[in-house]
This record gives sequence, C-alpha cells and structure tokens, in this order.
Amino acid sequence: MLSFQPPAVGEEEIAAVSETLRSGWLTTGPRAAELERRFAEYLEADHVLAVASGTAALHLSLLAIGVGPGDEVITSPITWPATANVIVHAGATPVFADVREADLNLDPDAVAALVTPRTKAILPVHLAGQPCDLEPLWALDLPVVEDAAHAAESRYRGRKLGGLSDATCFSLYATKNIAAGEGGLIATNRADVAAAVESLRLMRRGDGSLYDIVVPGYKANLSDVLAAIALVQLGKVERHAEIRARHVALYDEAVAELEGIEPLARDPRDTHALHLYVVRIRAEGAGATRDSYQRALAEEKIGTSIHFLPVHLLTAYRERFPDQAPLPVAERGGAEVLSLPLSPAHSDDDVADAIDALLRVHARFTA
Ligand SMILES: Cc1ncc(COP(=O)(O)O)c(C=O)c1O
Repeated sequence: MLSFQPPAVGEEEIAAVSETLRSGWLTTGPRAAELERRFAEYLEADHVLAVASGTAALHLSLLAIGVGPGDEVITSPITWPATANVIVHAGATPVFADVREADLNLDPDAVAALVTPRTKAILPVHLAGQPCDLEPLWALDLPVVEDAAHAAESRYRGRKLGGLSDATCFSLYATKNIAAGEGGLIATNRADVAAAVESLRLMRRGDGSLYDIVVPGYKANLSDVLAAIALVQLGKVERHAEIRARHVALYDEAVAELEGIEPLARDPRDTHALHLYVVRIRAEGAGATRDSYQRALAEEKIGTSIHFLPVHLLTAYRERFPDQAPLPVAERGGAEVLSLPLSPAHSDDDVADAIDALLRVHARFTA
C-alpha cells in the first residue's frame, strides 16, 4: 500500500531526539525557545510561541484576543473539525460561511453577510496551502486568527503568513510540512497577544517554592523532544518543498487529461505551500463518485484522504447547531474532494504508481 502522507524523517531527526534525551531536558526548554526564535525569523514575525498542537494554538489565540461566551466566530466549514471545536471550547458559537468554488477557501462576501454585533473574530483556513483572500477579511475590521496548519511556506501576495493578522496558527502534526508528530506554533506581531498566550499555555513557577498565577492556564506547552524534531524539519523545509513541487507538477500534467477530475485552483499571485494535492471528482465527467474512486484506488493499493467533509454536517455540529443554513458550495465540494498521496518521503516512482492507478481507475469508470 502506498501511504497517503508518510513522515519524512531520517537519521538527523533521530540524532536530535537522542541528543535531547541525553541533555536531561524532556519538557519545554532551550530547544522550544530556539524553535520559537528560528520560526519567527523564517516567518518574518515579531513573536512565535510554541504549544502542544495546532488545536491548542487556535484555542489559546482565540482566548488571547478575548473570545468568550456570547461571542460568534465566523469560520470555514471546509476544515478539520478542530478549527470549529476550539470556538466551542472558548464558549463561543461557530458561524460557518460558505466557500469559493475555485479553491474551497472562505468566500469573503459570505463572511461579510454573516457579521453581526456579536461577531468577535474571523477564523479563515488556508486549505491545502492556498492562502485565503485576506484583504477583504481585514477590511471587516474584526480580529483575524488564521488557521495556517497547511500553510507553513505560504505567502499571501508576496508576504509570508505569520505577522499579517492578529494571530496565525501552525501545526506540527505528523503529516504536516514541518512535522514533529504533535505540536503547534502561534505567530503574531501583537505583543499583547503573545503575552496572553504565554500566560495561558503553562502555569509558570516562580523562584524557590513560592509561585503565583494570574490566570488559570492550560497545560499546552511543547516538549523539547518534539521541538528538536521540528528544528531539523525546519532546516529541510525548502528541500522538502522542492520534492512536493515536482510531484505536484506530475499530478497536474496527468490530471489535465482526465475528464471530470480537476485540482483545486492555486492563485499565481500567492505562494502555495503544496501541503495537499486535492482534486475534485465530478461524477458526471469522471464516471463515478469520489467515494467510488477512493475505494477503487484503495483496491489498487493507493492511500488517499479527504480534506474535508463539511464540519457543519458532522453529528456534533448538526445536533448542537441544528439551524445552520445550507452551504451549497461547501457541501458539493465536500462530496467531491479527494487528496492524492503527497509527501517528500515519496519517490517519483511512488507518484508515478499513484498516477498509473488513477488513470486505470478513470479508464474503467468512463469506459
Ligand atoms: C486545517 C487544520 N486545522 C487545524 C488542525 C489541528 O492541528 P493539530 O492536529 O496539530 O491539533 C489540522 C490538523 O491537524 C488541520 O488540518
């Protein structure tokens, strides 16, 4: 079976973990601090804070900008459920806006139409690594917290994500472009947001046996063992991006010939992080549904994934927010998206195998 997104770790990551274990620092320490410094440099952002996950990054960012009970936060339905879950965790209500047909990122007009006096923040998601159109979201004059879990290398109109909005949240989860297994990073140019996250992520002890806390914090700090892996991965970010770019070009060329199968749009004005290669399978042209394609590819031993099923249709959200209006673009997109294998751990031959299998399946379904 060709794995969908295997981790690209090797001897350097193994050595970095051993060295950390030998150093005696298992929890947050000098490596987490170095990761924050290096990532801030990489993102050209004033502050970076390392936390336990991308989910924690989003949660603490919302709390840091003051989201709480009674507030609404407008977000995308085409995302991993964590994006909406953290709004619920903060005691606020997620409001799902529809997405754009071309790239399934938030539609700024749909967002503007949902703003009410209760709207406290906008939480856009840069799906697959394609930056959202941020300008019209900033123009709404509300705090913006970006979900950049897929977008470590992305640039919006030439500018690195990280210091652009009130807070930008990255994930170091096992499949991500910079992978530590688990972990998250918050970038911000707002000193007050950085200070709030700092006091929320960990209860800090004072000197000696005395300590005090100013807020009841979360245990959301990043361990040095994981930070050590992330540091090595950050050093490889460009090399890994080149491999994925080569594989994306191979997919683009093959998919261009297949009726009913089309990749999500990539805006040439932006830098796409190429975290996922998502195609839409339109049954009318492709001869079968996305689900049939996914099953047929699995039979051909090709692992695929789905990014994403619309969050508002998942049980927890249907039950808790039953009055949600239909979101036609997201709902159709969610039924058609399929992500093909993409990882710097794959060889060109692996991608050729995935493409051959896709061509065979397409030929069968359209015969
Ligand atoms: C779009 C998106 N947002 C948030 C997350 C949550 O990140 P984490 O798994 O690091 O908590 C993920 C995935 O893992 C994601 O894909």
